[in-house]
Amino acid sequence: MKDFIYRTLTSDHAQAWQQLRIEGARDYPMGFLVTLEETTAISVDRCRAILDGDSFRGVFAGEKLVGFCGYRPERLTRIRHRGEIGPFFVTRDYQGTGAAKTLMRGVIEEARGNGLAQLELFVDTENLRAIAFYEGRGFERVATHRDSVRIDGRSRDDHLYILRLEH
Ligand SMILES: CC(C)(COP(=O)(O)OP(=O)(O)OC[C@H]1O[C@@H](n2cnc3c(N)ncnc32)[C@H](O)[C@@H]1OP(=O)(O)O)[C@@H](O)C(=O)NCCC(=O)NCCS
Repeated sequence: MKDFIYRTLTSDHAQAWQQLRIEGARDYPMGFLVTLEETTAISVDRCRAILDGDSFRGVFAGEKLVGFCGYRPERLTRIRHRGEIGPFFVTRDYQGTGAAKTLMRGVIEEARGNGLAQLELFVDTENLRAIAFYEGRGFERVATHRDSVRIDGRSRDDHLYILRLEH
């Protein structure tokens, strides 16, 4: 397995991040809530501002950004044991290489370090590759959210997956 590096994304990564978002929205509609049109409408300056919000993590092959995920620990007292991840994406050429595992390992370690009890994510019920990946990382399916997303007007369902971090 190649060596990959997990890092927090900052405004410096805006251009590369936007290119990955466009690839993801264009090629993997089941993996993203945003449409391609909504993605391309966002300027690089806006991407810089979003990344300065500390909500995205990246995986790098050397200096090249090859994947990213959103990471949102809850802030309110009653729910701050939880964190949500997503979108979660690795560029096509790096799928199956271990980059996604490095990204997931990094975010799990970070969540543990932040004292979270569980990580949560939603995945389309027909996104079989992503489901296999999440289950391989220990996530468990706890619910199905019917009619959660409509792609080109067609209703789709998501599964809610949870990884418990406390023992
Ligand atoms: C989801 C994603 C991050 C996973 O990364 P990856 O590098 O492809 O993952 P891996 O190859 O390590 O693991 C995928 C697993 O699915 C299996 N798999 C591959 N294609 C499959 C398919 N069509 N159906 C079921 N399982 C499949 C692989 O064999 C592998 O299982 P294994 O670890 O037991 O061998 C990546 O595929 C991706 O970015 N997809 C597009 C965006 C997306 O859908 N994101 C998820 C949004 S919720």
